[in-house]
Amino acid sequence: MAKTSSSAWKTILAIETSCDETAAAIVHAGTEVWSNVVASQIESHKRFGGVVPEIASRHHVEQMTMVMEEALREADVTWEDVDAVAVTEGPGLVGALLVGVNAAKAAAFACGLPLIPVHHIAGHIYANQLIEPIQYPALALIVSGGHTELVYAAEEGSFEIIGETRDDAVGEAYDKVARTLGLPYPGGPAVDKLAAEGEASIDMPRAWLEQGSYDFSFSGLKSAVINKLHNASQKGETLEAADVAASFQGSVIDVLVTKTVAAAREYEVEHVLVAGGVAANRGLRAEVERAMGEEGLKLTIPPLKYCTDNAAMIGAAAYVAGKEGRQADMALNANPSLPLY
Ligand code: KG4
Ligand code: ZN
Repeated sequence: MAKTSSSAWKTILAIETSCDETAAAIVHAGTEVWSNVVASQIESHKRFGGVVPEIASRHHVEQMTMVMEEALREADVTWEDVDAVAVTEGPGLVGALLVGVNAAKAAAFACGLPLIPVHHIAGHIYANQLIEPIQYPALALIVSGGHTELVYAAEEGSFEIIGETRDDAVGEAYDKVARTLGLPYPGGPAVDKLAAEGEASIDMPRAWLEQGSYDFSFSGLKSAVINKLHNASQKGETLEAADVAASFQGSVIDVLVTKTVAAAREYEVEHVLVAGGVAANRGLRAEVERAMGEEGLKLTIPPLKYCTDNAAMIGAAAYVAGKEGRQADMALNANPSLPLY
């Protein structure tokens, strides 16, 4: 990776295609979002109850050029105004990532621009920077369909994963529980809505794991939900779906928030950040706000458009990477299991 002077890389065209959103954005100086275009594929994946990788890649190919052009148009800029091209290099679905990486390489090559590779999770974390400056040391709770992580950031550009899921990601657990309850994909918003109408009256397990561990596990909880529904129906009883949703959500939020508070204390952080699609959850937002208020800790939860996958967050992360001179050459490849940097 070449290191070159990058003080001028202010206006960045960023691309994100790691899962089922084809996204491009123009971000200036890491914080000003001049455009943020997202073409969602949810409708195409809905009937399969989840993201089908092959379909995702095809949609990205169809949408990518239009989405990039739209990002330039909405920002009212041309390629002449762009200082660098940034792209998610991983983690994610390899076929999906490849479309974005190749589009970014083609654009950078054709326009003679530097190419900045970005880690998807770094993008989710720096999405918070679009709202307000991150104060270090910081702790980020990343909750999405593919990730559940607690990340400690001692200073800008430095990340340490201190906890992660050992099985299902939290969004994945939401999607599976939703399917069991007969709710549509993606299940998170539907379970969230239903939970607000029910009582957390059904006893659900909480996977605390070993003393002091910041790891998570949601597969036991998901199985408990399925078993409770099954046992009830065998006895000819029915459980209120709203109570099941509220009880499941209660367990998820209890574990997420308790571990986040414990980590924030142990690492003596200044600022707690929440990111990823599940950060849209109303119950989680309310409980994190209450807990951080009690701890007297600064908290940022980005608005929904910056929580779910988008390219503005990749532009925000790329600005930091650019300041450090991080640059890729034309050999850049998609890396579906890229470690966090
Ligand atoms: O970050 P994201 O858009 O994509 C990934 O990178 O995975 O997250 C999508 C996930 C899905 O599993 C969806 O069910 C979940 O976020 N989600 C929610 C809510 N809105 C979306 N989960 C719980 N409550 C919500 N309100
Ligand atoms: Zn994501």
